[in-house]
Amino acid sequence: MTPTPAVHPIDPQFAAGARIKREDYERLYAESVAQPEAFWGRVAERLEWYRKPTRIKDVSYRLDDFHIRWYEDGELNASVNCLDRHLAGRGDKTALIFEPDDPAKPAQRISYRELHARVCRLANALRALGVRKGDRVTIYLPMIPEAIAAMLACARIGAVHSVVFGGFAPQSIADRIADCGSKLVITADEGLRGGKKVPLKANVDAALKLPGTNSVETVLVVRHTGAAVDMQMPRDRWYDAVIDGQSEDCVPERMNAEDPLFILYTSGSTGKPKGVLHTTGGYLVYASYTHEAVFDLREDDVYWCTADVGWVTGHSYIVYGPLANGATAVVFEGVPNYPSVSRFWEVIDKHRVTIFYTAPTAIRALMRDGDEPVKKTSRASLRLLGTVGEPINPEAWRWYYEVVGDARCPIVDTWWQTETGGILISPLPGATDLKPGSATQPFFGVRPALVDANGKLLEGEAEGNLVLLDSWPGQMRTVYGDHQRFIDTYFRTYPGMYFTGDGCRRDADGDYWITGRVDDVINVSGHRIGTAEVESALVSHPKVAEAAVVGFPHDLKGQGIYAYVTLVAGEAPSEELRKELVAHVRREIGPIAAPDHLQWAPGLPKTRSGKIMRRILRKIAENAPDQLGDTSTLADPSVVESLVKERRVP
Ligand code: WTA
Repeated sequence: MTPTPAVHPIDPQFAAGARIKREDYERLYAESVAQPEAFWGRVAERLEWYRKPTRIKDVSYRLDDFHIRWYEDGELNASVNCLDRHLAGRGDKTALIFEPDDPAKPAQRISYRELHARVCRLANALRALGVRKGDRVTIYLPMIPEAIAAMLACARIGAVHSVVFGGFAPQSIADRIADCGSKLVITADEGLRGGKKVPLKANVDAALKLPGTNSVETVLVVRHTGAAVDMQMPRDRWYDAVIDGQSEDCVPERMNAEDPLFILYTSGSTGKPKGVLHTTGGYLVYASYTHEAVFDLREDDVYWCTADVGWVTGHSYIVYGPLANGATAVVFEGVPNYPSVSRFWEVIDKHRVTIFYTAPTAIRALMRDGDEPVKKTSRASLRLLGTVGEPINPEAWRWYYEVVGDARCPIVDTWWQTETGGILISPLPGATDLKPGSATQPFFGVRPALVDANGKLLEGEAEGNLVLLDSWPGQMRTVYGDHQRFIDTYFRTYPGMYFTGDGCRRDADGDYWITGRVDDVINVSGHRIGTAEVESALVSHPKVAEAAVVGFPHDLKGQGIYAYVTLVAGEAPSEELRKELVAHVRREIGPIAAPDHLQWAPGLPKTRSGKIMRRILRKIAENAPDQLGDTSTLADPSVVESLVKERRVP
């Protein structure tokens, strides 16, 4: 491979046909931050409103007068924007291409007209089951078209969806149902991933036996694999049966721009996951505009984002952004390495995908299998590549660029968060020089800044904590049921600014390089896991007295989960117990939270006031025992010695 220059200048051929060129970016960015109301007022015209907004932005991050409102007098319906308004011009255009887990099964193409009909039938059925505007609906489905129909059906009747990733275990489902008080759950008999079955309905049954889930009146079950499941009447209803006979028209609910659209749970540094709440108008404007601009979307693109709808990437860049834009989106049920490690590239050829958006962790995993599984496919349809979810190391960037994209397709490295609703820092492919490993430049209206630990703004070339100085329409509005937690988590650390939780470097060109989380969140394969969640799962085991969890560098996953466990008196460490504890976490939270390494800790390094010093545990997990720093404030410095001795050495 030829050495990659640190900068890939804008590809002139790509730029020639691009929606946004460098001059446009500079001009529009300047306007967007100088006159946000004029700018975002104009962008909002891309949507269809029942009532056009006249009040564009009303935001104050001041703690004594805190509020975030966008388009507050506007009225619209998200499903109408994603479906109805395309019927006249794009009714027969393919909205979704469903590619099943098993490549031997036929793919399905669903037109905008067909998707509209499916959504309306389900929306009517939900209304018939008593779901009303403002009610919460939990969606626990595999990556099948019904998942998208379910989200849009909720949006149509003003119900607030809460999608729970299909990899979560019953306890996690129950926590999420209890927190928002869902009235109805939509699930399937089973999911299918890489040929393996996931017992979705059985997980819901187990979740609904747990405390706090009494709000659920109905469970709709999609028949997907056809497996026998336990149907508990009258609570459980077959999805097919309830939509049968429903009208293909459904009068949409007129929603205020600031009415909730969805809740999505994400891990924070403390306690239980937060219900991130997004509202209708600002979110949809932002998701659709970023999708069009960052991916340089054209009418005939076939766009594929490999995320799951259980994460925010699926919400914004499989469902709301692409469908609001009338795009054709691939919905993939499977995994990158089934039935072979060529699957991604085969699907690209099969459906002539032009824009491909995936996670660095997938790229790193596939890179290990060499170039041949890629090179034997054509990929000639591709014109743009993207990444999301975690920092991409330059080696993986280079492989993605040269081997997957044949050195022909720009890569947009998109930085954003569940909280931000859409992409905040990313190249625009016709306007920005690319640098492997850098998310480069802010999107329109986004004002990133770096601060030191005391909140002092850092100028020029610098490294610090990434904050945002102003709002953008896609910003989350609250933590469901706990507005104070929203303010405390994001706006109190550095008053007057939104704190992202990420560390970041800005280079001499003003390009941003995200260095990773600076709080107690671990980014495992692009998924956020709170150390506190894993710790509380571990200590819920009767043999565990205490646990401390930190991240450590992991070749494939970006970060792995490293757990230190102290057993209760009288229990002895054993290989069997280690396996049991890892399995316990899988059962409690889900496979994504299973520790990669579990070390027995006779004691944990604590300050005299009893606070665990994670800094020390992180260094031990990173195998950097020479960088422990000052340990003199520890209550018992000798525990460190034994932890260092027993550490995992890669
Ligand atoms: C990380 C996913 C570096 C970051 C959309 C952020 C990234 C967290 C990038 C949010 C990127 C996301 N480069 N880091 N391009 N994209 N991150 O909420 O630490 O699942 O705070 O949203 O992922 O993860 P979340």
